[in-house]
Amino acid sequence: MKAVRIHEFGDVNVLRWEETPRPKPRTGQVLIKVESSGVNYADIMRRRGGYPGPDLPSTLGLEAAGSVVELGEGVSGLTVGQRVMAMGQGGNAEFVAVNASYAFPYPETLNPVHAGGMPVVFLTAYHLLKTRGQMQKGDTVLVQAGASGVGTVAIQLAKAWGARVITTASTQDKLDLARSLGADVTINYTTQDFEAVVQKETDGQGVALVLECVGGPVLEKSVRCVASYGRLVAYGNASGTPATIPAADIFPANRTVIGFSMGRSPAGRLDHKQAWAELLPLVAKGQAKLVVDQVLPMSQAAKAHQHLANRGTRGKVILTP
Ligand SMILES: NC(=O)c1ccc[n+]([C@@H]2O[C@H](COP(=O)([O-])OP(=O)(O)OC[C@H]3O[C@@H](n4cnc5c(N)ncnc54)[C@H](OP(=O)(O)O)[C@@H]3O)[C@@H](O)[C@H]2O)c1
Repeated sequence: MKAVRIHEFGDVNVLRWEETPRPKPRTGQVLIKVESSGVNYADIMRRRGGYPGPDLPSTLGLEAAGSVVELGEGVSGLTVGQRVMAMGQGGNAEFVAVNASYAFPYPETLNPVHAGGMPVVFLTAYHLLKTRGQMQKGDTVLVQAGASGVGTVAIQLAKAWGARVITTASTQDKLDLARSLGADVTINYTTQDFEAVVQKETDGQGVALVLECVGGPVLEKSVRCVASYGRLVAYGNASGTPATIPAADIFPANRTVIGFSMGRSPAGRLDHKQAWAELLPLVAKGQAKLVVDQVLPMSQAAKAHQHLANRGTRGKVILTP
């Protein structure tokens, strides 16, 4: 089979669309013939050497959708021929073997090309808002980088669950997208002081929940946007810039700073089945959709990586074999 692989860490020139043996499903795994596979910011970090993964050379991609072609030993509840979307290492390939507990059957009404870009952003946004963020109806939520893959889903879910959403992005185009997804207040955080706008929009109270993935000064200022007894979930560092949070911004203000990494959560800790049980009806009703920036052939993975790294995307880039 062919796959998007790296033999060394580096810039986009290390990406190869090359022949590699088709994986065999191990005990508890299923083999999927891939129809589509999303590119996530974690793939950019992995290619650069800043994200954990298997020994090199290795195949990129953390998610895929397609049909089950083989069941490993001990797998029940899934059948050969069934269409699934899945999370697992090596999705940017013609075939991927994933743990059966991370392969989720999806309804026929879902576009199979979009399905491969859904698991990471939908499950991340769900767990950020519900599992870690404990969002309640009526909360005001600040979603940083609202036009990112995760941000576009988080805006829609927060709105569907009754929140008021304030969001940020670096261009007017991205803010227009966020607005079209339901965001109530949009802020260009490269030209405006988002902290001042949030304070004004919340009568100086701050927001109940912040979802933060940019890091650096954006994280530092985001903490000061949190209301008393509110929460900030830090889940990424797309800027690559370190941040320092003074204790004085946390305890005297009764704020909670929470970390979240889906990929590094202990196995079984996150209830993904419950998540899909709540997410798929929202997708069916049109209350949440995947925003697709573009669909490219896997042979053009370098173009996809460049686009994400340049902050050019609105929503997700999807690769097809
Ligand atoms: N913890 C978890 O479990 C988990 C899971 C999935 C994703 N993540 C994290 O969530 C974030 C979004 O992921 P994604 O896959 O949705 O990514 P994405 O679509 O590529 O979005 C990343 C966003 O970060 C913003 N950004 C700010 N500075 C940047 C820079 N120097 N380079 C690139 N982007 C920059 C950009 O928005 P603007 O141009 O508007 O600033 C961009 O839209 C990433 O930090 C990722 O690592 C974490």
